[in-house]
Amino acid sequence: MTTPMRSQYLAIKRQYPDIIVLFRLGDFYETFDDDAKTVAAVCDVVLTSRPVGKDVRVPLAGVPYHAVDGYIAKLIEAGYKVAIAEQVGSEPPKGEKLVPRVVRRVVTPGTLVEPGLLPEKANNYIVALVVEHPQVPGTSEAPGTSRGAGLAYADISTGEFATTEITDGVDVLRRVSEELARLAPAELLYPEKDPRRTREASDVQSAICNLQSAIHVTPYAPWRFEEETARQTLLAHFGVGSLAGYGCEGQPLAIRAAGALLQYLEDTQRDGLGQLTGLRTYSTAEFMTLDQATRRNLELTETIRGGTVQGSLLGVLDATLTPMGGRLLRRRLSQPLLDVAALNRRLDRVEAWYHDAPHRAELRGILRGLGDLERWVNRCVQGIALPRDLVGIREALARLTGIRALAERSVDGGIRYWVLGIDGPSPIPNTQSPIPNTQYLDPCPDIATLLANAIADEPPATLATPGVIRPGFSAELDGIHLATRDAKHWIAGLESVERQRTGIKSLKVGYNKVFGYYIEVTKANSELAPENYIRKQTLVNAERYITPELKEYEALVLNAEERVLELEGQLYREVLAQVAAEASRLLATAAALAELDVAAALAEVAEANRYVRPVLADDGVLDIKAGRHPVVEKLLTGEPFTPNDAYLSPDQAIVVLTGPNMSGKSTWIRQVAMIVLLAQIGSYVPADSACIGLVDRIFTRIGASDEIARGQSTFMVEMVETANILHHATNRSLLILDEIGRGTSTYDGLAIAWAVVEYIHNHPGLRAKTLFATHYHELTDLAERLPHVVNFNVAVAEQGDNVVFLHKIAPGAADRSYGVHVARLAGLPKAVVSRAQEILADLEASGAAGPRRSVLAQPTVFQLPLFSAVDPVIAELRALDVNALSPLDALNKLYELQQRVR
Ligand SMILES: Nc1ncnc2c1ncn2[C@@H]1O[C@H](COP(=O)(O)OP(=O)(O)OP(=O)(O)O)[C@@H](O)[C@H]1O
Ligand SMILES: [Mg+2]
Repeated sequence: MTTPMRSQYLAIKRQYPDIIVLFRLGDFYETFDDDAKTVAAVCDVVLTSRPVGKDVRVPLAGVPYHAVDGYIAKLIEAGYKVAIAEQVGSEPPKGEKLVPRVVRRVVTPGTLVEPGLLPEKANNYIVALVVEHPQVPGTSEAPGTSRGAGLAYADISTGEFATTEITDGVDVLRRVSEELARLAPAELLYPEKDPRRTREASDVQSAICNLQSAIHVTPYAPWRFEEETARQTLLAHFGVGSLAGYGCEGQPLAIRAAGALLQYLEDTQRDGLGQLTGLRTYSTAEFMTLDQATRRNLELTETIRGGTVQGSLLGVLDATLTPMGGRLLRRRLSQPLLDVAALNRRLDRVEAWYHDAPHRAELRGILRGLGDLERWVNRCVQGIALPRDLVGIREALARLTGIRALAERSVDGGIRYWVLGIDGPSPIPNTQSPIPNTQYLDPCPDIATLLANAIADEPPATLATPGVIRPGFSAELDGIHLATRDAKHWIAGLESVERQRTGIKSLKVGYNKVFGYYIEVTKANSELAPENYIRKQTLVNAERYITPELKEYEALVLNAEERVLELEGQLYREVLAQVAAEASRLLATAAALAELDVAAALAEVAEANRYVRPVLADDGVLDIKAGRHPVVEKLLTGEPFTPNDAYLSPDQAIVVLTGPNMSGKSTWIRQVAMIVLLAQIGSYVPADSACIGLVDRIFTRIGASDEIARGQSTFMVEMVETANILHHATNRSLLILDEIGRGTSTYDGLAIAWAVVEYIHNHPGLRAKTLFATHYHELTDLAERLPHVVNFNVAVAEQGDNVVFLHKIAPGAADRSYGVHVARLAGLPKAVVSRAQEILADLEASGAAGPRRSVLAQPTVFQLPLFSAVDPVIAELRALDVNALSPLDALNKLYELQQRVR
């Protein structure tokens, strides 16, 4: 015989066999059986057991309900999903013994909404992916086979929901992985492996594995991805009869992905998905394509080493002051545009704030600390907003008045238009767009008033404590408060009244949960207790009494408290519903705030760092005067950054850049890519002037990064990436090639590099704008053979034995590498440096045939001094390559060294 509780639990658990069920029991969420073992191990809580019937006990582990967020975070991080079973009401229904429980929410990595578990300035995306007939990279499939992919994504904490269909035939998987790289989703839904299609699954798996960030992949039943199921789900959710309004009619793969995603979200969010108010269908062709390698190499949103925002391009650019502004900027940086007009509209906004520094400062003063309006409103829609979220919305709305006031004072027509909307006093004179400006700051006075009247100034954190609703909002609530006030007053005065009446100085009135209010008299005085005292409890030194009157007042107070909580809960839910009903206006305002925040932030960065507005065109010419690297210029402390020009056009398409080590080659070619990228997200750029012919893709092949984890050698990775570039670049692309061919023998490398440049130059339709940094001086010959190739080099000045790096890019080829010089700077032992110089001199004299025997026959002789100047242990320490040691090896080594000096 199992207990009723056990049966209730098992009924729920059966629906979520692979998910950890947190079962609400009073002040705890309990887990049982294997779940309990997992929770105990992952969350470091005690594993106990609980009787579930005669002589039967099962493992049990519980976490306190008020701290559950932290435990959920640990479980999610450890790769588990969590279903939260809540009690429904506080009393069992008539005739039943148990309070019913249902699963309210299933928390998965992609469906987090807890503010504490989400990064503020980044979205938390969940993606659904469906792929048809994918192509295995590297094999050729018969042309004409239809293949494509549908990819949908959502962030339920902000309400974003979008879908796309990728059908450009040849290269679906690659495009998919580019989108995944952009979105960096926390969770990916993919049709469960169908045994008939293992190849498909493994291809996609490998495409996903190639992404750097670990994505949690959730297999989902294939029928969920079927077109009809998916379509019906979408139609039902939006309450429409056709998907045409969302732009995805006729795109079955986009529908399948979006519909499957929606089903999954419905499965996990039992309280509804009101925040998903629309679906945006987009095409990846609207945006500049950036693959994973390029995002990484250019360190757009995080550094390669360390993975921090600090030190990345975003780190320099992000002066936003609100979380929604931060998220918008990050999205923009991941998705540069290809449309001159749209970019100019963005730049107009930046320019307006750039020129109006006083109002910008005022705006930023108001935005600072405004908080996350977007996520608060979404929490209202989901019905999970806490009192502090409503206070946040109220305070944010209150700040809008200030922003509107400053816009009214501004002389800039644009500022007035964006802030005040089409009805503002003076829309900008020559807006061509006939569409009304729907994205202005709507102060939502109705909501502001409601929240001001309904919610207390400083409400308690949860509805478990009374005081959330402001006095004056509800006559009924005020009535209860009034009625209890007298009773409370009476109880408060009871102690002194009774002391006087009985003459017992030490008489006390107290309260505890079991007996309620009582009068306490010490044992010594208990004789003096009056007749109407009823003894309730005897303690060692005292007696506790009640009186009928005291119980009456007590009932008044206690019932009132319960009634207050109930009524406040009800009023609160009504307020939430009213806010939720206006969510679209509030969210439009949040979006407008994000736009303002980003524009003002970019203006701020532009002024602080002396950036200029780029001139955009579609003419394929890049003309940058005195450009700078936005990140490196910030990192330099001593010397100033040397600005450099760059010019690329269809006629001068390929630059072969030579120059010594450490001279600034890599810096320059990256900075050109970054300036183009900044221009194409609508930002000012670090230069004196910049004309940017928009590019459709930026490709980078940079340095040797170790990919042992992927099971490919350095050189293999380099070649795979180069192959990809040559296959996919167009004449509108920008190619950043840093030392291609370096990873193999000199001759192989040179030969490959040479052939690559020739191919880019000669291939019809290619001739992409290319910056090629290399140490192969032989490549400078190409400029004489190919009309659209030019040589540039980085200048250095020689002062005796020393080399001064000028970091100045100049036309022409470099003549020397100064590698040995850099080796000395790096602290290679003197003997090695001078020997290298000897061999180098000989090599230069004898040509590439190798050093002559005579030189090699006289190696430097090392003589050990009689008394070694350096302790061998220290010498060994110095020579140790710490990076190459595993932690265990390091520990062993440390142990060994210590033994030797003991
Ligand atoms: N324009 C510049 N102004 C000032 N300092 C610069 C400039 N360009 C580069 N530097 C400095 O020189 C360092 C080396 O630059 P970079 O890595 O671009 O050299 P490189 O020519 O690519 O060297 P290698 O051939 O070894 O790869 C940078 O880290 C930076 O500190
Ligand atoms: Mg370099």
